[in-house]
Amino acid sequence: MKSNTYAERSHVKMKEVLLSPKSSGPKIHYFMIRGGKNKTNITVLEPGKIGKEYIKTYGHYHIGKLEETYTILQGNGFVIMQERKKDRNGKPIDAEIKNFKAIKVKTGDKVFIPSGWGHLLVNTGKTWLVASDNSPVNFKGKKSVSMPGHADYKPFKKLHGAGYYVIEKNGKTAFQKNPNYSSVPKINPAPFKNY
Ligand SMILES: [Fe+2]
Repeated sequence: MKSNTYAERSHVKMKEVLLSPKSSGPKIHYFMIRGGKNKTNITVLEPGKIGKEYIKTYGHYHIGKLEETYTILQGNGFVIMQERKKDRNGKPIDAEIKNFKAIKVKTGDKVFIPSGWGHLLVNTGKTWLVASDNSPVNFKGKKSVSMPGHADYKPFKKLHGAGYYVIEKNGKTAFQKNPNYSSVPKINPAPFKNY
């Protein structure tokens, strides 16, 4: 039987959330070893770009009240986090972002993801970006290729990524607004440097 501990995200799958889905890229964008809350999960991202966009993870919101901490084990990149506005009934509005953060990370950094915030990793460095997280991935009865049950990927699929894409512009890291969102807060690119 094939192990359900290992999973990967292919270029074909990642086209759903890319700035330039027609641009070419590696066959597999990132690799995962799933251990869950106690053993942790490991994610390994390829370096490089698809068009001008840096290689990233798909992005998801957690289902229910579930927080998570990422530890960067190697590399340089960003943890992208976004929080949706809510309607009168408290239901999140996928295309309207209230808070957006692009946290620059390097080896050894830890980033806490509060419950309700969408999140993804971006590799802007030259090496693998390796991160561990403690989210309680449930792989019971799931194939390794399937998306884990604790996460909601649909808003990222529908809007083709997060509120901003992390790109290379004139040799520097920059942020490009995703036009599929109806509102996203302004981002100040000044504190972010290229590697
Ligand atoms: Fe997560």
